[in-house]
Amino acid sequence: MNTIKYTNFHRQFKPLREKILKSIIPLFESGEFILGKTLQEFEKNFTTYCGTGYALGVANGTDAIILCLKSLNIGSGDEVITAPNSFLATVGAIVAVGATPVFIDVKEDFNIDPDLIEAAITSRTKAIIPIHLTGRPAEMNRILEIADKHKIPVIEDVAQAVGAKYYGKMVGSFGIAGCFSFHPLKNLNAAGDGGAITTNNREVYEKIIKLRNHGLRNRNESELWGYNSRLDCIQAAVVNIKLKYLDQWNERIRNIALKYTESLAGLVKVPRDQPYELPVYHTFIIECAARDELQNYLLEQGIETKIHYPIPIHLQPAAQSWGYKEGDFPVCERQGKRILSLPIYPELTDEEVDLVIKQVKKFFEAWA
Ligand SMILES: Cc1ncc(COP(=O)(O)O)c(C=O)c1O
Repeated sequence: MNTIKYTNFHRQFKPLREKILKSIIPLFESGEFILGKTLQEFEKNFTTYCGTGYALGVANGTDAIILCLKSLNIGSGDEVITAPNSFLATVGAIVAVGATPVFIDVKEDFNIDPDLIEAAITSRTKAIIPIHLTGRPAEMNRILEIADKHKIPVIEDVAQAVGAKYYGKMVGSFGIAGCFSFHPLKNLNAAGDGGAITTNNREVYEKIIKLRNHGLRNRNESELWGYNSRLDCIQAAVVNIKLKYLDQWNERIRNIALKYTESLAGLVKVPRDQPYELPVYHTFIIECAARDELQNYLLEQGIETKIHYPIPIHLQPAAQSWGYKEGDFPVCERQGKRILSLPIYPELTDEEVDLVIKQVKKFFEAWA
């Protein structure tokens, strides 16, 4: 039986093997592992790619959010508005700086519902973090309009959406800062953990340069209490190479997404691109009532799928003390029970995509 894995790192590595090895061997020879030229080179390229004033490599996407919040002096007693259907890290970062997450529900496209933001704003609201979930841009125009009106900074969580555009402009370039993850599962991925922050704000940039490196302003003097959160040069070398391929990979992903959408539209709920967006489908999520049965059936046929994410953050055991309950965010909760992520990565072959479609169809023939 053919098996289709949800991820296949080896397929991406194979054609890049020589290039990657050639770029990291000199680092072992020079010992320039931390804050070296390779990192600066990547930061320059990523700045250009994102169309922002600055980009900084950091240790991972979670730290990217923590550092941004810290750079804005957000901490104890402050509230940060975000969505409850993200990966845990968005909220983990808010909690890590001592602030309190305030959740609002999402729309059918899994992104934060701008209509609900204003009612959640209080005198303690110090930031809004929209997540461009699944690689589809959140409605930035509306979010920024509300944020500007209330003078609240917007930090974009771009972990799942590197390369996606909103009205022709890169996500991560709209808010005061954009937070990226280069975790191996992301569309632009390192050989381990990695992340970046983009910003057009010089003050934020200069503060994060220090925050990511123990608050140091030079070798011996520390200006503020910071962290150890730099993108290692080995990881910078890897993502620098992969950045050149990102647009072509994302294009392939979009083609696979389109094929899934066109073929499965009558059977399950599928994402539909909006005219304003160029999505990058970090995940391709379908929705149906028989989600668990479909997942089991596909697995029996050798097709691996995932659920992103089955338990909303407000219902996690770790969130108990905030007092949220089932029913608070009906769209997000309904989605959690019905969503299924199909395999989607540039290296999937056409035959594999066809097989996934065929098996989903077969399941519904039997189910109907
Ligand atoms: C939406 C979102 N935010 C933040 C993160 C955190 O990134 P990292 O794993 O690099 O810390 C991730 C992914 O892991 C994510 O999917």
